[in-house]
Amino acid sequence: MRVLFTAAEIFPFAKTGGLADIAHALPKALSEHLDVVSLMPLYRFIDKKRYQIEPTGMEMTLIVGETLHTVEIFSTHYEGVEHLFVYNETLCDCEGIYGPPGGCYENNDIRFAIFSHAIVELSKRLSIELLHLNDWHTALAAPLVKDAGLKTRIVFTIHNLAYQGIFPPLSISRTGLSPHHFTLEDMEFYGSLNWLKGGIAHSDAVTTVSPSYAVEIQLPEFGCGLDGFLRLHHEKLSGILNGIDTTLYDPSGDPSLPYHFSAGRMANKSRCKKAYLEEIDIDTPELPLFIFIGRFVEQKGLDWIIDAANVIGKFPMVLSILGGGERRYEMLFDALSQQYSNIHVQIGYDESLSHRMYAAADFLLMPSRFEPCGLNQMIAMRYGTIPVVHRIGGLRDTVHPWNGKEPLCGKGVSFSEPGASGLVRAIEEAIELYDTRRTFRRIRKFDMDCDFSIRRCAQRYESLYRTLF
Ligand code: GLC
Repeated sequence: MRVLFTAAEIFPFAKTGGLADIAHALPKALSEHLDVVSLMPLYRFIDKKRYQIEPTGMEMTLIVGETLHTVEIFSTHYEGVEHLFVYNETLCDCEGIYGPPGGCYENNDIRFAIFSHAIVELSKRLSIELLHLNDWHTALAAPLVKDAGLKTRIVFTIHNLAYQGIFPPLSISRTGLSPHHFTLEDMEFYGSLNWLKGGIAHSDAVTTVSPSYAVEIQLPEFGCGLDGFLRLHHEKLSGILNGIDTTLYDPSGDPSLPYHFSAGRMANKSRCKKAYLEEIDIDTPELPLFIFIGRFVEQKGLDWIIDAANVIGKFPMVLSILGGGERRYEMLFDALSQQYSNIHVQIGYDESLSHRMYAAADFLLMPSRFEPCGLNQMIAMRYGTIPVVHRIGGLRDTVHPWNGKEPLCGKGVSFSEPGASGLVRAIEEAIELYDTRRTFRRIRKFDMDCDFSIRRCAQRYESLYRTLF
């Protein structure tokens, strides 16, 4: 089966979040059994030399609305997967993927329409049998494939329903979409055009990234206005839990770590903790170290951490935060780190530092308001770091109560009621668990032995693909 896997971001070429990680790990795992080609835009900031990205000589002229756009196709092989890249000035000559920090580009509809038209053209030229689209940035390709009369089967994955690609109606003509799609059953959404609806309506199967999120998004509370539409299409909707690349995240050989460890040899994890605390100039290695790693957006429950800061500041613990995004959060966290000596904040993103933090920590905080899947909790467990999470979406599916009887994989501390008080209680529970030492070590080892590998996830996708033929 010839598969084209497309996303707006793929690690290590371009990344803003978990989408890039999955878009790297999944095609790699799928390509063990299937003929998979990955495709993304060749943004100007991508280091072509470093990744040996070369022109293929293939050029295409696309008609997008009234405008002709020339696109060039580049390629490289990375970790056994053939990666194709679409280069076009309008799509790629920008500093960010979606916009400047915290914003989005005004012409994102045209940019990603060019990408979507290129996906359709390549599906034809490469005789693609199955097209796997991810998030709204590629969703327009679904109606375009159907309008072109192609037999290509389409799987559309929603990584985050909060981002839908909503544009004013005039966008229809400039993106080259046939106006017949502007109906309630199709892409019309409160007088605007909604790309995600197009992806849902015109795909053969729709997936999201955890079973719990697949249920939640059909409820008004989490449906972002599309719960009714998703209920209508529920028969083709399923939740497939993401996984992580266990070679990339491997505490026994991770090149970013000062010391290596595994479930049977844990002494070096304490050394990683000591080394990290020295690095951030905190000298209380006996206290539990909590970390938070992620984008600074409302989804991640940052307000609850901020509301709980006066309590956290007094607790016998250290909290180390790494991330960036919305300016207001960056400023608030900066202020908190000045105020409390046990709260440390590093603004920005640093892949290697994040690995050292996973290795050093005792607990990972993940109080997301909603979480389609979440990868950090799986990475944390692989490094023997116990997750403390809001029991929601993919967090509910991967982190089960540590004191529960069920032998389910992934154990940690969780809280159900949204808000700072739930989070504080969960942190208290984690500190108590830390103090038990023996139980703490047992849970930590249990988590390290769990299988969150992308292989399991890839098997599920492969079976789904096969049901469509
Ligand atoms: C998005 C979601 C996150 C998910 C990731 C990969 O970033 O917010 O929950 O893990 O996509 O699917």
